[in-house]
Amino acid sequence: MRRLRKPTIAALTGLAAAALVSGCGGGSLGGGDSDDGGGGGDTATPVRLGLVVPTSGVYAPLGEDMKQGFELYLAQHGQKLGGHAVELEVVDEGATPATGVAATQRLLQGDVNAVVGIVNSATALGVRDAFDEAKIPLIVANAGADAITGAKKSDFVWRTSFSNGQVAAALGPQAAQTCTKGAFLVAADYAAGKEATAGFRQTFTAAGGKVVGSVFPPFGTTTNYQPFLAQIRQSGADCAYSFFAGAEAVAFTKQYAQFGLKDTVKLYSSGFLTEGGVLKGAGAAAAGIETSLHYSDQLDTPANKAFVGEYQAKFGESPTVYAVQTYDAAHVLDDAFKTGIDGPAVVKGLQGISSVDSPRGTWRFDDGHGPQQTYYLRRVDQGAGGLVNTVVQPLSGA
Ligand code: BEZ
Repeated sequence: MRRLRKPTIAALTGLAAAALVSGCGGGSLGGGDSDDGGGGGDTATPVRLGLVVPTSGVYAPLGEDMKQGFELYLAQHGQKLGGHAVELEVVDEGATPATGVAATQRLLQGDVNAVVGIVNSATALGVRDAFDEAKIPLIVANAGADAITGAKKSDFVWRTSFSNGQVAAALGPQAAQTCTKGAFLVAADYAAGKEATAGFRQTFTAAGGKVVGSVFPPFGTTTNYQPFLAQIRQSGADCAYSFFAGAEAVAFTKQYAQFGLKDTVKLYSSGFLTEGGVLKGAGAAAAGIETSLHYSDQLDTPANKAFVGEYQAKFGESPTVYAVQTYDAAHVLDDAFKTGIDGPAVVKGLQGISSVDSPRGTWRFDDGHGPQQTYYLRRVDQGAGGLVNTVVQPLSGA
């Protein structure tokens, strides 16, 4: 079983060079490093990868972060994975599952060794079977749809991100401590919003909380949240739980404050509401919001500090959870390609990974091919250079 470690920059330069010369470096079983070349045979053949991320639509900012996370890993590793040169095709997932599924299927008709990415749960659900049938590995680097891993797992579908229900469930017991009159649930009307609210509801009510209402604004088209915010006000809730990301998160957070709810109905959310550029976009309206997530660029660990420094140096901004998830997708493929580059060999390589040392902390694939990881309670605070997601404490509710 391999344990993937995040190497230092100095080690990276040397190891990437070694891989170039030798073409193979052994599989680093039992605690070795992932960056020691390719152990799966001939590394002269390049690997062809598809990166499916939104470059248009409400989730476009997430796609850019994911692309940067993948690029950083490649840059640190001599543009190689498992010792193979990488031929990367980036395709636009677009705004809806209709565009995302079509773009992914086009990639599958080409000759790709693996596909990485996918932001939207509905898209991930729409392509899961195609990967299973084509026997081409898909590393889902964002979409949290519960039904693409776990009980519905495929040998060919793995996830380096999270499941929507788990992120939200981690927050439920925490919110139950402060929310005495009841919680109102508000989330984007598609698989991710439905799963997130179900996860929150489960642990929140188990911890003694009461849900007083819920509403699901249409996904991708809602720009005016006032009718939904009015329902929150009328419900008598003293807290709300929300799931929104990207451009929708900015609009919702700003309107929540403008509508006067910020100081009367405490807002909890899955951390996508306040992540990265979205936090800058929402500005002061986001101050004080408490969220759950498996990453913050504020995590005070040597591995994260090194990662944040390298990311800032390359892109002039701090990394987000989306960047980390895709960086880790490159990391697991780097190791898996050492076993071979055809679909079943890559799956064997993925099955052999026992844990991954990541900027988010060490995590491992669970039996359902999703990450088993720590979730954190985060609060939006004023930091030295602007608003940040302070890490308050690890959560145990997931
Ligand atoms: C999802 O569709 O699963 C999702 C999209 C954006 C952020 C988080 C989850």
